[in-house]
Amino acid sequence: MSLSVRAANGVEIPQLGFGVYKIKGKNGLFEQTIREAIQAGYRHFDTARIYGNEAELGRVIANSGIPREEFFLTSKVWTTDLGEERTRRAFEQSCKKLKTTYLDMYLIHFAGPGYVEAWRALERLYEEGRVKVIGAANFEIEHLEQLRKHAKIPPMINQVETHPLFQQQPLREYMSHHRILHEAWGPLGQGNVSLLDHEELRSIADRHHKTVGQVILRWHLNRNSIVIPKSSNPKRIKENRQVFDFELSGEEIDRIAQMDTGRRSSVNPNGIQVNPLYVKLTRLFLNVQNLQ
Ligand SMILES: NC(=O)c1ccc[n+]([C@@H]2O[C@H](COP(=O)([O-])OP(=O)(O)OC[C@H]3O[C@@H](n4cnc5c(N)ncnc54)[C@H](OP(=O)(O)O)[C@@H]3O)[C@@H](O)[C@H]2O)c1
Repeated sequence: MSLSVRAANGVEIPQLGFGVYKIKGKNGLFEQTIREAIQAGYRHFDTARIYGNEAELGRVIANSGIPREEFFLTSKVWTTDLGEERTRRAFEQSCKKLKTTYLDMYLIHFAGPGYVEAWRALERLYEEGRVKVIGAANFEIEHLEQLRKHAKIPPMINQVETHPLFQQQPLREYMSHHRILHEAWGPLGQGNVSLLDHEELRSIADRHHKTVGQVILRWHLNRNSIVIPKSSNPKRIKENRQVFDFELSGEEIDRIAQMDTGRRSSVNPNGIQVNPLYVKLTRLFLNVQNLQ
Protein backbone atom coordinates (compact mmCIF):
# COMPACT_ATOMS: atom_id res chain seq x y z
CA MET A 1 0.00 0.00 0.00
CA SER A 2 1.12 3.56 -0.61
CA LEU A 3 -0.40 7.02 -0.26
CA SER A 4 0.16 10.22 -2.15
CA VAL A 5 -0.19 13.91 -1.45
CA ARG A 6 -1.21 16.52 -3.98
CA ALA A 7 0.95 19.51 -4.87
CA ALA A 8 -0.73 22.91 -5.43
CA ASN A 9 -0.87 22.16 -9.18
CA GLY A 10 -2.69 18.83 -8.61
CA VAL A 11 0.29 16.52 -9.26
CA GLU A 12 0.29 13.50 -6.94
CA ILE A 13 3.50 12.73 -5.08
CA PRO A 14 3.99 9.29 -3.48
CA GLN A 15 4.21 10.13 0.20
CA LEU A 16 6.76 7.48 1.12
CA GLY A 17 9.88 7.58 -1.02
CA PHE A 18 13.46 6.35 -0.81
CA GLY A 19 16.48 8.61 -0.22
CA VAL A 20 19.74 7.61 -1.87
CA TYR A 21 22.20 9.95 -0.15
CA LYS A 22 25.38 8.19 1.03
CA ILE A 23 24.43 4.74 -0.23
CA LYS A 24 27.83 3.30 -0.96
CA GLY A 25 28.50 2.46 -4.60
CA LYS A 26 31.34 -0.05 -4.27
CA ASN A 27 31.01 -3.71 -5.34
CA GLY A 28 27.55 -3.21 -6.81
CA LEU A 29 26.02 -2.42 -3.42
CA PHE A 30 24.29 0.70 -4.69
CA GLU A 31 22.62 -1.19 -7.54
CA GLN A 32 21.63 -4.03 -5.25
CA THR A 33 20.13 -1.60 -2.72
CA ILE A 34 18.04 0.19 -5.35
CA ARG A 35 16.89 -3.15 -6.78
CA GLU A 36 15.80 -4.21 -3.31
CA ALA A 37 13.96 -0.93 -2.81
CA ILE A 38 12.11 -1.36 -6.12
CA GLN A 39 11.29 -4.93 -5.19
CA ALA A 40 9.93 -3.74 -1.83
CA GLY A 41 7.58 -1.38 -3.68
CA TYR A 42 9.32 2.03 -3.61
CA ARG A 43 8.76 4.05 -6.78
CA HIS A 44 9.70 7.51 -5.52
CA PHE A 45 13.48 8.10 -5.42
CA ASP A 46 15.22 11.18 -4.10
CA THR A 47 18.68 12.00 -5.43
CA ALA A 48 20.73 15.14 -6.20
CA ARG A 49 23.56 16.06 -8.52
CA ILE A 50 25.93 16.39 -5.57
CA TYR A 51 25.22 12.79 -4.42
CA GLY A 52 27.16 11.56 -7.45
CA ASN A 53 24.85 8.58 -7.98
CA GLU A 54 22.34 9.81 -10.59
CA ALA A 55 23.91 7.67 -13.32
CA GLU A 56 23.76 4.46 -11.27
CA LEU A 57 20.20 5.19 -10.16
CA GLY A 58 19.18 5.89 -13.77
CA ARG A 59 20.76 2.63 -14.91
CA VAL A 60 18.96 0.49 -12.32
CA ILE A 61 15.63 2.13 -13.10
CA ALA A 62 16.12 1.77 -16.86
CA ASN A 63 16.96 -1.93 -16.40
CA SER A 64 14.13 -2.61 -13.95
CA GLY A 65 11.60 -3.58 -16.60
CA ILE A 66 9.16 -1.10 -15.03
CA PRO A 67 8.05 1.82 -17.24
CA ARG A 68 9.64 5.18 -16.46
CA GLU A 69 6.18 6.75 -15.87
CA GLU A 70 5.65 4.50 -12.86
CA PHE A 71 8.60 6.10 -11.08
CA PHE A 72 8.66 9.46 -9.36
CA LEU A 73 12.18 10.89 -9.66
CA THR A 74 13.51 13.91 -7.80
CA SER A 75 16.86 15.59 -8.29
CA LYS A 76 18.32 18.87 -7.07
CA VAL A 77 20.46 21.64 -8.49
CA TRP A 78 23.62 22.29 -6.49
CA THR A 79 24.80 25.70 -5.23
CA THR A 80 27.59 26.05 -7.80
CA ASP A 81 25.01 25.67 -10.59
CA LEU A 82 22.63 28.41 -9.48
CA GLY A 83 21.79 30.96 -12.22
CA GLU A 84 19.32 30.86 -15.10
CA GLU A 85 21.56 29.25 -17.74
CA ARG A 86 23.71 27.22 -15.36
CA THR A 87 20.69 25.68 -13.71
CA ARG A 88 19.25 24.67 -17.05
CA ARG A 89 22.54 23.01 -17.99
CA ALA A 90 22.66 21.21 -14.65
CA PHE A 91 19.10 19.98 -15.20
CA GLU A 92 20.02 18.57 -18.63
CA GLN A 93 23.04 16.82 -17.10
CA SER A 94 20.90 15.30 -14.36
CA CYS A 95 18.34 14.08 -16.93
CA LYS A 96 21.07 12.56 -19.06
CA LYS A 97 22.56 10.70 -16.11
CA LEU A 98 19.15 9.56 -14.92
CA LYS A 99 18.32 8.42 -18.49
CA THR A 100 15.11 10.40 -18.64
CA THR A 101 13.69 13.29 -20.64
CA TYR A 102 11.80 14.76 -17.68
CA LEU A 103 11.93 14.87 -13.89
CA ASP A 104 8.93 14.49 -11.62
CA MET A 105 10.39 16.96 -9.17
CA TYR A 106 13.34 19.36 -9.34
CA LEU A 107 14.52 21.31 -6.31
CA ILE A 108 17.03 24.06 -5.57
CA HIS A 109 19.26 22.23 -3.08
CA PHE A 110 20.15 25.26 -0.93
CA ALA A 111 19.36 28.96 -0.93
CA GLY A 112 22.86 29.85 -2.19
CA PRO A 113 23.69 33.02 -4.16
CA GLY A 114 21.70 33.10 -7.42
CA TYR A 115 18.69 31.09 -6.24
CA VAL A 116 16.18 33.64 -7.55
CA GLU A 117 17.74 33.42 -11.04
CA ALA A 118 17.82 29.63 -10.76
CA TRP A 119 14.11 29.71 -9.96
CA ARG A 120 13.48 31.31 -13.39
CA ALA A 121 15.12 28.28 -14.99
CA LEU A 122 12.84 25.98 -12.96
CA GLU A 123 9.79 27.98 -14.04
CA ARG A 124 10.78 27.67 -17.69
CA LEU A 125 11.39 23.93 -17.36
CA TYR A 126 8.00 23.59 -15.69
CA GLU A 127 6.27 25.56 -18.45
CA GLU A 128 7.96 23.36 -21.06
CA GLY A 129 6.67 20.23 -19.31
CA ARG A 130 10.15 19.00 -18.40
CA VAL A 131 9.39 19.00 -14.66
CA LYS A 132 6.08 18.28 -12.96
CA VAL A 133 6.75 19.80 -9.54
CA ILE A 134 9.25 22.56 -8.72
CA GLY A 135 10.48 23.55 -5.31
CA ALA A 136 13.25 24.09 -2.84
CA ALA A 137 15.27 22.33 -0.19
CA ASN A 138 16.65 23.80 3.01
CA PHE A 139 14.83 27.09 2.43
CA GLU A 140 13.82 29.13 5.43
CA ILE A 141 10.86 31.51 5.55
CA GLU A 142 12.95 34.47 4.34
CA HIS A 143 14.10 32.52 1.23
CA LEU A 144 10.58 31.33 0.43
CA GLU A 145 9.36 34.91 0.80
CA GLN A 146 12.03 36.07 -1.66
CA LEU A 147 10.94 33.45 -4.17
CA ARG A 148 7.29 34.29 -3.74
CA LYS A 149 8.09 37.96 -4.33
CA HIS A 150 9.90 37.29 -7.61
CA ALA A 151 8.18 34.15 -8.84
CA LYS A 152 5.62 33.73 -11.57
CA ILE A 153 5.04 30.19 -10.28
CA PRO A 154 5.32 29.91 -6.49
CA PRO A 155 7.37 27.09 -4.93
CA MET A 156 5.29 23.94 -4.47
CA ILE A 157 7.43 22.05 -1.95
CA ASN A 158 10.29 22.54 0.49
CA GLN A 159 12.48 19.61 1.61
CA VAL A 160 13.98 20.26 5.04
CA GLU A 161 15.51 18.36 7.94
CA THR A 162 12.62 17.13 10.08
CA HIS A 163 12.18 14.47 12.75
CA PRO A 164 10.62 14.30 16.22
CA LEU A 165 13.58 16.14 17.80
CA PHE A 166 13.37 18.94 15.18
CA GLN A 167 9.77 19.29 14.07
CA GLN A 168 9.99 22.54 12.04
CA GLN A 169 6.71 23.86 13.43
CA PRO A 170 6.99 27.59 12.49
CA LEU A 171 8.24 26.79 8.96
CA ARG A 172 5.47 24.22 8.49
CA GLU A 173 2.81 26.73 9.52
CA TYR A 174 4.14 29.26 7.02
CA MET A 175 4.31 26.60 4.29
CA SER A 176 0.84 25.29 4.95
CA HIS A 177 -0.53 28.85 4.72
CA HIS A 178 1.12 29.25 1.29
CA ARG A 179 0.23 25.75 0.03
CA ILE A 180 3.87 24.64 -0.01
CA LEU A 181 4.21 20.91 0.70
CA HIS A 182 6.58 19.74 3.40
CA GLU A 183 9.10 17.00 2.65
CA ALA A 184 11.23 15.60 5.48
CA TRP A 185 14.88 14.81 4.92
CA GLY A 186 16.76 12.94 7.64
CA PRO A 187 13.35 11.68 8.76
CA LEU A 188 14.98 9.09 11.05
CA GLY A 189 17.41 11.65 12.45
CA GLN A 190 20.06 10.20 10.10
CA GLY A 191 20.23 7.11 12.29
CA ASN A 192 21.08 9.08 15.43
CA VAL A 193 20.70 6.98 18.57
CA SER A 194 19.32 9.89 20.62
CA LEU A 195 16.25 9.57 18.42
CA LEU A 196 16.15 5.86 17.60
CA ASP A 197 16.72 4.86 21.25
CA HIS A 198 14.39 7.48 22.66
CA GLU A 199 12.42 6.06 25.58
CA GLU A 200 9.16 7.78 24.60
CA LEU A 201 9.26 6.37 21.06
CA ARG A 202 10.30 2.97 22.30
CA SER A 203 7.26 2.69 24.56
CA ILE A 204 4.92 3.74 21.71
CA ALA A 205 6.60 1.24 19.38
CA ASP A 206 6.24 -1.60 21.90
CA ARG A 207 2.56 -0.86 22.30
CA HIS A 208 2.02 -1.26 18.53
CA HIS A 209 4.50 -4.15 18.09
CA LYS A 210 6.42 -1.92 15.69
CA THR A 211 9.97 -0.58 15.59
CA VAL A 212 10.90 2.96 16.58
CA GLY A 213 11.74 3.66 12.91
CA GLN A 214 8.22 2.65 11.90
CA VAL A 215 6.64 4.85 14.58
CA ILE A 216 8.66 7.85 13.39
CA LEU A 217 7.70 7.28 9.74
CA ARG A 218 4.01 6.87 10.72
CA TRP A 219 4.24 10.19 12.58
CA HIS A 220 5.62 11.95 9.47
CA LEU A 221 2.84 10.48 7.31
CA ASN A 222 0.21 11.62 9.82
CA ARG A 223 1.51 15.17 9.46
CA ASN A 224 0.91 14.95 5.70
CA SER A 225 4.64 15.19 5.03
CA ILE A 226 6.46 13.45 2.23
CA VAL A 227 9.14 11.24 3.70
CA ILE A 228 12.25 9.71 2.10
CA PRO A 229 14.09 7.40 4.54
CA LYS A 230 17.39 5.93 3.38
CA SER A 231 18.50 2.41 4.19
CA SER A 232 21.09 0.06 2.74
CA ASN A 233 19.84 -2.77 4.91
CA PRO A 234 17.43 -5.18 3.15
CA LYS A 235 15.44 -5.82 6.33
CA ARG A 236 15.02 -2.11 7.10
CA ILE A 237 14.23 -1.27 3.45
CA LYS A 238 11.14 -3.51 3.81
CA GLU A 239 10.43 -2.54 7.40
CA ASN A 240 10.22 1.15 6.47
CA ARG A 241 7.31 0.41 4.13
CA GLN A 242 5.30 -1.51 6.74
CA VAL A 243 3.80 1.66 8.15
CA PHE A 244 0.31 1.67 6.70
CA ASP A 245 -1.19 -0.99 8.97
CA PHE A 246 -1.35 0.93 12.26
CA GLU A 247 -2.36 4.35 13.57
CA LEU A 248 -0.96 6.53 16.33
CA SER A 249 -3.46 7.69 18.93
CA GLY A 250 -4.02 11.39 19.70
CA GLU A 251 -2.29 10.91 23.04
CA GLU A 252 0.77 9.36 21.34
CA ILE A 253 0.94 12.20 18.83
CA ASP A 254 0.84 14.68 21.72
CA ARG A 255 3.69 12.84 23.45
CA ILE A 256 5.82 13.02 20.28
CA ALA A 257 5.01 16.74 19.93
CA GLN A 258 6.61 17.23 23.36
CA MET A 259 9.92 15.81 22.07
CA ASP A 260 10.70 18.81 19.84
CA THR A 261 13.97 20.45 20.89
CA GLY A 262 13.80 23.09 18.13
CA ARG A 263 17.43 22.26 17.32
CA ARG A 264 18.84 20.78 14.12
CA SER A 265 21.03 17.71 14.39
CA SER A 266 23.84 19.55 12.56
CA VAL A 267 24.80 23.11 11.60
CA ASN A 268 22.35 25.20 9.60
CA PRO A 269 23.20 23.99 6.07
CA ASN A 270 22.62 27.42 4.52
CA GLY A 271 25.63 28.79 6.45
CA ILE A 272 28.15 26.40 4.93
CA GLN A 273 26.96 27.15 1.37
CA VAL A 274 28.83 30.44 1.25
CA ASN A 275 32.12 29.07 2.61
CA PRO A 276 34.58 29.55 -0.33
CA LEU A 277 36.54 26.35 0.39
CA TYR A 278 33.35 24.31 0.48
CA VAL A 279 32.14 25.86 -2.78
CA LYS A 280 35.52 25.11 -4.43
CA LEU A 281 35.54 21.48 -3.28
CA THR A 282 32.01 20.77 -4.44
CA ARG A 283 32.69 22.44 -7.82
CA LEU A 284 35.72 20.17 -8.25
CA PHE A 285 33.64 17.13 -7.35
CA LEU A 286 30.96 18.01 -9.91
CA ASN A 287 33.57 18.64 -12.63
CA VAL A 288 34.99 15.16 -12.06
CA GLN A 289 31.45 13.73 -12.16
CA ASN A 290 30.79 15.43 -15.49
CA LEU A 291 33.82 13.74 -17.05
CA GLN A 292 32.41 10.30 -16.18
N1 LIG B 1 18.01 18.21 0.81
C1 LIG B 1 19.00 17.94 1.61
O1 LIG B 1 19.86 18.79 1.91
C2 LIG B 1 19.13 16.56 2.17
C3 LIG B 1 20.04 16.30 3.21
C4 LIG B 1 20.13 15.01 3.70
C5 LIG B 1 19.34 14.01 3.16
N2 LIG B 1 18.48 14.27 2.13
C6 LIG B 1 17.65 13.22 1.52
O2 LIG B 1 16.90 12.58 2.54
C7 LIG B 1 17.17 11.18 2.53
C8 LIG B 1 17.04 10.60 3.91
O3 LIG B 1 17.88 11.28 4.83
P1 LIG B 1 19.21 10.64 5.44
O4 LIG B 1 19.66 9.53 4.55
O5 LIG B 1 20.17 11.71 5.69
O6 LIG B 1 18.77 10.10 6.87
P2 LIG B 1 17.61 9.14 7.43
O7 LIG B 1 16.82 8.53 6.34
O8 LIG B 1 16.93 9.88 8.51
O9 LIG B 1 18.46 8.03 8.18
C9 LIG B 1 19.22 7.07 7.52
C10 LIG B 1 19.94 6.28 8.60
O10 LIG B 1 18.98 5.57 9.40
C11 LIG B 1 19.23 4.17 9.34
N3 LIG B 1 17.91 3.52 9.26
C12 LIG B 1 17.10 3.40 8.16
N4 LIG B 1 15.95 2.79 8.48
C13 LIG B 1 16.02 2.51 9.81
C14 LIG B 1 15.15 1.88 10.73
N5 LIG B 1 13.95 1.42 10.36
N6 LIG B 1 15.55 1.75 12.00
C15 LIG B 1 16.77 2.21 12.41
N7 LIG B 1 17.64 2.81 11.58
C16 LIG B 1 17.27 2.97 10.29
C17 LIG B 1 20.08 3.95 8.13
O11 LIG B 1 20.96 2.86 8.33
P3 LIG B 1 20.95 1.58 7.31
O12 LIG B 1 21.27 2.12 5.95
O13 LIG B 1 22.02 0.71 7.88
O14 LIG B 1 19.58 0.99 7.41
C18 LIG B 1 20.89 5.25 8.06
O15 LIG B 1 22.00 5.19 8.94
C19 LIG B 1 18.58 11.10 1.94
O16 LIG B 1 18.95 9.82 1.51
C20 LIG B 1 18.49 12.13 0.84
O17 LIG B 1 17.81 11.60 -0.29
C21 LIG B 1 18.37 15.54 1.64
